[in-house]
Amino acid sequence: QRPSSLSVLGQTYASDDYTNLPSSILSRLAPSPTLPYQPHHPLCLLRAQIEEQLGAAYTPIRAPSPVVSTHLNFEELGFPVDHPGRSPTDTYYLNRTTCLRTHTSAHEVETFRNRHDRWLLTADVYRRDEIDASHYPIFHQMEGAAIFPTSAYAPGGQVELECQEMEARLARANLEIEDTVDLDEAGGFQPTHDARSAQLACRHLKATLNGLVLDLFGERHAQEPSSSNGGGGGDPLRVRWIAATFPFTSPSFEVEVWFRGKWLEILGCGVVMENTLTKAGVNAVGGGGEKKMGWAFGLGLERIAMVLYSIPDIRLFWSQDRRFLDQFIVDPASDRGKRQEGFRDTIDGGGGGGKDETGVSAAGGAQSPTRTPRRKLVTFKPYSKYPPCYKDVSFWLPSSSSSACSQGSTATTITGGTRFHENDFYEIVRDTVADLAEDVVKIDEFTHPKTGRASLCYRINYRSMDR
Ligand code: PHE
Repeated sequence: QRPSSLSVLGQTYASDDYTNLPSSILSRLAPSPTLPYQPHHPLCLLRAQIEEQLGAAYTPIRAPSPVVSTHLNFEELGFPVDHPGRSPTDTYYLNRTTCLRTHTSAHEVETFRNRHDRWLLTADVYRRDEIDASHYPIFHQMEGAAIFPTSAYAPGGQVELECQEMEARLARANLEIEDTVDLDEAGGFQPTHDARSAQLACRHLKATLNGLVLDLFGERHAQEPSSSNGGGGGDPLRVRWIAATFPFTSPSFEVEVWFRGKWLEILGCGVVMENTLTKAGVNAVGGGGEKKMGWAFGLGLERIAMVLYSIPDIRLFWSQDRRFLDQFIVDPASDRGKRQEGFRDTIDGGGGGGKDETGVSAAGGAQSPTRTPRRKLVTFKPYSKYPPCYKDVSFWLPSSSSSACSQGSTATTITGGTRFHENDFYEIVRDTVADLAEDVVKIDEFTHPKTGRASLCYRINYRSMDR
């Protein structure tokens, strides 16, 4: 019953048992990301702000098509074959060897291969997930990375100088950094790395990202009313580092910021795996040429934009309603406005050319006080006056199912050859009512005592943002 092939962005792919691309996703695919490059769009404001904060040393790159090989998205990055993220319940597959990228890290190897040493890549990414105010199957990530040759790690060398410069700025700021990460829990230093250099790479990573968090949240935080649980006002902005695990970095970390009374997860990061740089041809196997080492991070743009601009629902990013879009037109004459419109490179722009060897002054330049831009903080004012409206739907699972339902909230797997996964149900909802569903929650489950058949009941909350 499945068509033998599908056509995506002008290319034909043979379908197989992994093919699971719904029409609602297919119709939104574009040859490169759009919303982060749409002038005045909140994702564009945020992208531009991050690019500006990190400065001219980091080449901005607009990602190519979201259709990637599973090799790029998973294998090259060291994902084991049985990694849960690879399951067709979580990832959109064109077929077994081609998928929609699930993260911007899919482009690490090729970006390093194109001789970019310090870069910031923006892309649309795709994940099958639940339906609620903060989950949408398409969202946007930015991947940032910086690698330096071995000589730059020498005492008193470029990396250390940049660290000192960034740390001096952080020391002057009203910032509290909590960092008690246990190195082993974070994966430890890689065996091929000199421990002192790897430590310095971590220091550079931390100074850079603490600076970014300060730039994104500092001003906002200071404007919040002070509260008992450490709100804004005169209280310092709190950032914390926690140990994490990613197959393509070691050590690995997650960064969280304390904002409006809770810890908000901002990004994942770590020291780039040697394997990535070897695959990219930056580091030859068994030596030859000066080796490079450095770090990478990946952050979700919607999640940060929702908090910064008080956008209550992730569906709003897709709104074409002027009442949404016009709220983000700040100062058309500003430099930032100009920078939003364009980007300086594409992924195969063949960097090199010394732009990454700009060194201390360029990297620090963006953070120098003289260049601190005027910034108008946008706070979104909701205009939807429409109440939510819910409908409950319940259905029997196929009778071959023996035991009933879920453990935990996401997956329900049924034995006897029939599988049911909540993400499949969510997708039916999306394909049918598009963005009108605000959230979908399971509210009841039942197993018939005699027949053993299971039934699930979901509540679909409908609410339009625009009408
Ligand atoms: N790709 C990771 C994610 O999507 C984030 C990440 C990027 C982590 C780069 C480490 C280094 O969660």
